[in-house]
Amino acid sequence: MLKTGFVGWRGMVGSVLLDRMREENGFKRIEPVFFTTSQVGQPGPNVGVEVPPLKDAFDLEALKSLDVIVTCQGGDYTGQVYDRLRESGWKGYWIDAASSLRMHDDTVIVLDPVNRHVIDQRLDDGFRTFAGGNCTVSLMMMGLGGLFEADLIEWMSSMTYQAASGAGAQNMRELLEQMAMAGNAARAELDDPASAILDIDRKVIEAMRGDQFPIEQFGAPLGGSLLPWIDKRMDNGQSKEEWKGNAESNKILGLAPNTVPIDGICVRVGSMRSHAQAFTIKLRRDVPIDEIEDRIARHNDWVSVVPNDKEATLAGLTPAAVTGTLGVPVGRLRKMAMGGEYLSAFSVGDQLLWGAAEPLRRMLALLVE
Ligand code: HSE
Repeated sequence: MLKTGFVGWRGMVGSVLLDRMREENGFKRIEPVFFTTSQVGQPGPNVGVEVPPLKDAFDLEALKSLDVIVTCQGGDYTGQVYDRLRESGWKGYWIDAASSLRMHDDTVIVLDPVNRHVIDQRLDDGFRTFAGGNCTVSLMMMGLGGLFEADLIEWMSSMTYQAASGAGAQNMRELLEQMAMAGNAARAELDDPASAILDIDRKVIEAMRGDQFPIEQFGAPLGGSLLPWIDKRMDNGQSKEEWKGNAESNKILGLAPNTVPIDGICVRVGSMRSHAQAFTIKLRRDVPIDEIEDRIARHNDWVSVVPNDKEATLAGLTPAAVTGTLGVPVGRLRKMAMGGEYLSAFSVGDQLLWGAAEPLRRMLALLVE
C-alpha cells in the first residue's frame, strides 16, 4: 500500500478532500500519515483506519519516507519544501492543490475525466509531480469537455462569476457579514411594507460605503455589489485569473500554449462556493445544436445539459442548486446572433469539489489502482 502523507488537511480544500476520501473508502487503500505545521504528536483525524500521531510537515526525513504527498497547505509551503525534497533525491509522487508548480514543465495538471490520456502518457514518461488546475479552468473543462474532445472550439471567451470560497474561508465569512450589515442597515424600512424602496436603497449604499462595512478580506464591498478583478495584474492588462484560463486549459489538454485561445473577464460575485461562467464559443464549423448538446452530455458522468428554458435554468443552473454536489450543469446553449459558428453556454460547478479537491482525490486513486 502506498504510504501517503497529507498536509493542509484541516483547511477548507483539505477538509473537502478528506470528506470525499471517506465517502469513497479511499483511506482503506493507502497507508495514511497526517502532517501538521503546529500540532506535532497530537492524534490524527478519524478516517476509519488507524493513523500515527501527527508528524511535522517540515521534517524532510519524515516526508522522504513517503510514496505520495498530497498537499492542500498552499503555495508558501510548496515553495519551502518541494525543491529541497526533490534535491534530496526523493522520487515519490507530489499531488498539490496550489498553483505554484502548475505551469512547470515537469508538472502535470490533473483533471482525469478530461485529460486521462495526458496523465497516462506522463506517468509512462516518469512524471511524478501533479497539480490540480485553477477552479474556473477545471469547471469549464468538465462542462465543455465534449467540445474540446471533438476539437470543435476555435476560440472561446469565458466571463466568470466566481464564488467567495475561491478567495478563502475568511472571505466567505466576510461576504456573509457584508450581506447581514447591508440588510440590517434598512431593517426598520424592510419590516414596514409601506416604506419607500429608494429610502431602503439609500440606507444600504450608505452602509456599504461607510467605515464600518467589513472589507478587510476583499478590499471592497462584495455583498450587494461585485468585483471585476481577481488576483494580481499581468503585464498585458489581464488579471492572473484571466491569464490562467488560457495557459492552464491548453496545458491540461497537452496542447502547445495558445492552441485554443481562451480569454475573458473574471468577476467575483456574492455566491458562497459555486463558480459560474458564461461562454461565447467560436466553433470550427456550424455544428447542429442537438449534436453539441449530445457531445457535452455524453462526455463524462458529472456533466448534464440543462434545457434552454427559464424554468429548468432557474431550477438547475444556479450556485444554490449545485453547491455541495459533483454535478456540472451546462445550459443556455444556443447559437448566437453572430452566426451558426457562435455558441453561447453557461455552466455552474462547486468550487471546492471539481474546482479543487476532487481532481486531487482521483489522481491519488489512480496511483493506487
Ligand atoms: N483563484 C480562484 C478564485 C480559486 O479566486 O476563485 C480557485 O483556484
